Parts: sequence; C-alpha cells; structure tokens
Amino acid sequence: MALDLAVVPVAGLGTRLLPATKSQPKEMLPVGRRPVVQYVVEELRESGIKRILFVTGYGKSSIEDFFDVNQQLVSHLRHSGKEEQLAELAFERNQVQYAYTRQREQLGLGHAVLIGEPFVGNQPFVVALGDSIIGMHAKSRIVERMIEEYERSNADVVVCFEELENKNEVVNYGIAQPKGQITGDVFELESLVEKPSVDEAPSNLAVAARYVFSPAIFSELEKTERGKGGEIQLTDAMCQVLKKGGKGIGIRLPKEEPRFDIGNFESYFQAFVDFALSDPQFGEGLEIYLRKKLSIEPGAE
Ligand code: UTP
Repeated sequence: MALDLAVVPVAGLGTRLLPATKSQPKEMLPVGRRPVVQYVVEELRESGIKRILFVTGYGKSSIEDFFDVNQQLVSHLRHSGKEEQLAELAFERNQVQYAYTRQREQLGLGHAVLIGEPFVGNQPFVVALGDSIIGMHAKSRIVERMIEEYERSNADVVVCFEELENKNEVVNYGIAQPKGQITGDVFELESLVEKPSVDEAPSNLAVAARYVFSPAIFSELEKTERGKGGEIQLTDAMCQVLKKGGKGIGIRLPKEEPRFDIGNFESYFQAFVDFALSDPQFGEGLEIYLRKKLSIEPGAE
C-alpha cells in the first residue's frame, strides 16, 4: 500500500508566541491569507497524503472546525452570490480523510508522535509539524521526495534539513551528523545532535519539520526518558533507531523551498511579510507602502 498517512502534531502550548496563542492555536495564526495549518495540509495533499491524524490538545478545537464543512456559511455565500468567497472554501471538500486525537499532557513532540501509535499501527508514516510551512505558499514536493527516498533506500528514518546560512544558529536546532562527506542533496545520516554548540556542531544542516518514519520509531519513543524541559524528544528516539542499525537518510531542502517557522515572533513576522508581499491582489500595494515607509526609492533593490 502506498505511503499516504501523515501525523500532524498541533498540541504544543506555543508559549513563545504569547499572548497571541493564549486562547488560539499557533497553527491557526494567519500567514498572508491562510492559517498555517492549511498550508501544511495543502502541501501534504500535493505530495500524495490522503489520511491525516492531527494530534491536538486543549484549546485546539478550532483546527477541527476549520477542516470541517461549514454548511451554514456555504449556503449563505451561495445565496448571496459571493462566488469568489465561496471558492475560498473549496478546500473543505478535498479528498483528505481527517482524524483527531488528543495529547492530554504537553510532554513534547516525541510524546505527541507516540500518541499517534494506536492509529498508525505497523505502517510507515510522515510527520509534518503543524507550525511550519515549507516553500512559498507551501509549493514544495519535499515530502513526496522523502517518501520516494524512504522506499528506494529501505530507510527507517528520513529527515528533511535546512542549510543554515549563519553557523551560529546551530545552537537552536537539531543538527545532522552525516555519514561521511555529503556529495548531493540526499545523504546518509549517522546521527543527530540536539542544539549543539557552534564548535561541536557536525554540520550546519538543521532539522526542518518534516520526517518519514518506519514504525520502529514507536518502540524507541516508548523507551525514551523525559529529557530537556521534561519533554520526550523526538530527536532522542531517532538517534536510538540509528544507533541500533536503522538506516537514516537526510534530504536537503532546495534553496527555493525555504522553511517558514511560525514558532517564534521573529520568523513569524518575516513569513507574514513574505507571503503578504507575494499576494496576487495586495502584494504590489504592500510593497509600495513598505518602500514609502522605509524611504526606499521604487526600483531600488
Ligand atoms: P514546539 O517545539 O515549537 O513547541 O512545537 P511548542 O510547545 O508548540 O511551543 P513553545 O516552545 O512553547 O513556544 C513544534 C510542533 O510540535 C507540536 C506543536 O504544536 C508544533 O506544531 N507539539 C509540541 C505537540 O504537539 N506537543 C507537544 O507537547 C509539543
């Protein structure tokens, strides 16, 4: 059977985005016109995913409502002839099957993935973080490439990585330890190092929110002790799979498919500006506004 199942963890507390996330999920924050999680689902769907399990939590029910059909709104738009707005709801009827389960204690990303085990069972699956968009307007086939690589190389773990321009940033991410020299965009993974110091970092490749796992990850997650911040770290379980001889593959994100991390204000603001500037209707006007505001002559770079 084709690998068409993804687990999307959306249960985190989003404390770095308070107060914006006090009573709404960070995954529902808008980036340009759409909430973050809509881009994530769109990207997965384009990559052939047909079943999505959201791992949600307290205060996250707006995500469920969002992907449901709002019949009242549809009728209202239809009867008032608002065809353009109606077209914006077409995603409600896409062919993806949604399921929801809840993480009742926020014990970290690894724990959130483990919550999916009874649903996933003994089959490979994708994990896509609900707070990260890959590619401008989610135009990325990275998950499709990862699935192909998973099947081709008979891997247990496939991780997508973003090349950090500034090596000092390694301290904030899980970093790839490749096996030997990297010669292309796809490489073998020896291990991962969580938030290393600049001197200890084995590369400048940071884990970028998309994974493919064999079910072997679950038995390691079950054994993973709580680590930093009392959380069960997904990275720890991945390292164990690799240590025990599981095959790991890393794939580098192409430069034209950057990761937009909505987990902190700095990168959220940047993502919003990027998406708003490329809006077909309002992007040009926004650019004129920003140039005026920043006193940049039109046409200047
Ligand atoms: P983060 O690592 O950004 O954690 O989550 P967080 O708790 O949401 O945010 P901060 O650190 O408090 O600001 C990455 C992804 O994993 C999910 C989040 O919802 C997000 O999509 N997650 C994280 C869970 O589902 N459960 C958790 O316990 C932690």
